[in-house]
Amino acid sequence: MQTVKKMQNSLNSMRPIRISKGWINAGRALIHIISIAWLSVVYLDALSGELPGDPVQYLLDFSGIGTLHLLIMSLLISPMAQTFKFGQLVRLRKTLGVYAAVYALFHLYVFIAYELQYEWLLIAEEIIKRPYITVGMLALSILSVLLITSLQAIKARMGTAWQKLHNWVYLATILGCIHFLWSVKSNWYEPTAYLITALILISLRRKKLQKIFK
Ligand code: HEM
Repeated sequence: MQTVKKMQNSLNSMRPIRISKGWINAGRALIHIISIAWLSVVYLDALSGELPGDPVQYLLDFSGIGTLHLLIMSLLISPMAQTFKFGQLVRLRKTLGVYAAVYALFHLYVFIAYELQYEWLLIAEEIIKRPYITVGMLALSILSVLLITSLQAIKARMGTAWQKLHNWVYLATILGCIHFLWSVKSNWYEPTAYLITALILISLRRKKLQKIFK
């Protein structure tokens, strides 16, 4: 208890962190490079048969978990910015959100192109009849709208409505976690851990959410 108080005091007495715009741009560039390079390397490995086990399952797992990691990292930005008085961190949130949507779209591509090999009727049937896929599709639809409206020209036109719309990322994250939990036959603790983490991070914004739903 004493240690927690000491930590709180030292955080409260911390001076706000400010860095140059160049470092923020470097942070953004790093997110671009890591996200694109990682996805490309794994996809090329799959195409050249260098992945262990079933490559389609591997790609689905990689892109699905990747989407959740990116969403959770984007949810972590605000509490970190507040705790460390480092407001500029918020500028990295949109880039993380964009890649969460890109990974989720790749996940859908793997499902359509490799798992079901463009059998459109079967794809439609799976989306309608399998609840965990319906939920995944809902999450992806939200992320796609957020991706399109992240274009600077659209964002500028939307004004204050942009932030309201982008609060839907919380719902997309929860739906993504439920989709994961629903898709597993055993090992439910891994998806549960993701769901609990997402709920904790979202609950940190309860004041903001209360205002929206008032
Ligand atoms: C934001 C959207 C989504 C997220 C965050 C997400 C996340 C995940 C995760 C984490 C897994 C499990 C990976 C593992 O077992 O290690 C998974 C599996 C899967 N997802 Fe998604 N997903 C999304 C959308 C979709 C969509 C739109 C589809 C198809 C229309 C889909 C189809 C599948 C399939 C077929 C599996 C494999 C299930 C199995 O192993 O039997 N997902 N997804």
